[in-house]
Amino acid sequence: MRILYPCNPLEPKEPDQPFTDEFVAVQKLGIPASLFAYDDLSFGDFKPRPHIQSGETVLYRGWMFNIIAYQEFTDFIRKKGGIPVTSPADYTLCHHLNQWYSACAELTPETVFLEKGSNYLEQISNLNWDAYFIKDFVKSNTDAQGSIANTPEQAVKIINLIEQYRGELEGGVAVRRVEQFQPQSELRYFVINGNAYSPNAEIPTIVKTVTQRIEAPFYSIDIAKTTEGIERIVELGDGQVSERKTWSLDRFVSMLVQQ
Ligand SMILES: Nc1ncnc2c1ncn2[C@@H]1O[C@H](COP(=O)(O)OP(=O)(O)O)[C@@H](O)[C@H]1O
Ligand SMILES: [Mg+2]
Repeated sequence: MRILYPCNPLEPKEPDQPFTDEFVAVQKLGIPASLFAYDDLSFGDFKPRPHIQSGETVLYRGWMFNIIAYQEFTDFIRKKGGIPVTSPADYTLCHHLNQWYSACAELTPETVFLEKGSNYLEQISNLNWDAYFIKDFVKSNTDAQGSIANTPEQAVKIINLIEQYRGELEGGVAVRRVEQFQPQSELRYFVINGNAYSPNAEIPTIVKTVTQRIEAPFYSIDIAKTTEGIERIVELGDGQVSERKTWSLDRFVSMLVQQ
């Protein structure tokens, strides 16, 4: 297995921050790693183009790709003779909320999906909920307004803010019921080839349940506890584009190299 990390073409020897320590650590454990120019999604003439040996499986660790760019990325890996660990379909399954939602519906806040550019106000008003947690299929809103709206009008404002700050809504809009999570209770677990890994010694039952329902080579599961002490899925993510969060570098890379 080889791992690809993103870099700036003007600094072709160093991965983008914050991936340097991981890039160094995996190589110390004997896993080859290469750099590629992330911003050159056409994989044209920009250097460096990643070194990949024919027949190697290839994993990625870095910035998020949208679905189209991930497809192009894996096409590129295949053209160089590599075998992507995560197919575009597997990537989409965990990266886009609307894809994994139905398999885990009772374990995560109730969610309604709105088509991009549809009549948001009408659809959100029809829900008649007390509050609305708004995100696109990938990320919440991180500006001062946050992601929680108390009225449908505020919800539409958040959708517009997401579009404005990020340039596009990825996939569509997800409107989620607001649940009361205990502050600081969220933990990230990883699943590799059906095996769950924990940042501490324990693997909660809810993580084992997700592992049985979601089949993808490498993904993350974020679990928070409600004020009543019930464990809930906050979100899944593709493992390649998930931050390590509370994981120590050592613990994370020793999990990675077991692939
Ligand atoms: N339905 C919800 N109700 C209340 N808080 C939520 C809800 N969904 C997410 N959150 C809180 O907002 C944070 C960000 O939401 P998340 O879905 O993880 O988006 P992001 O992709 O931006 O991390 C979570 O870590 C959690 O604390
Ligand atoms: Mg999150």
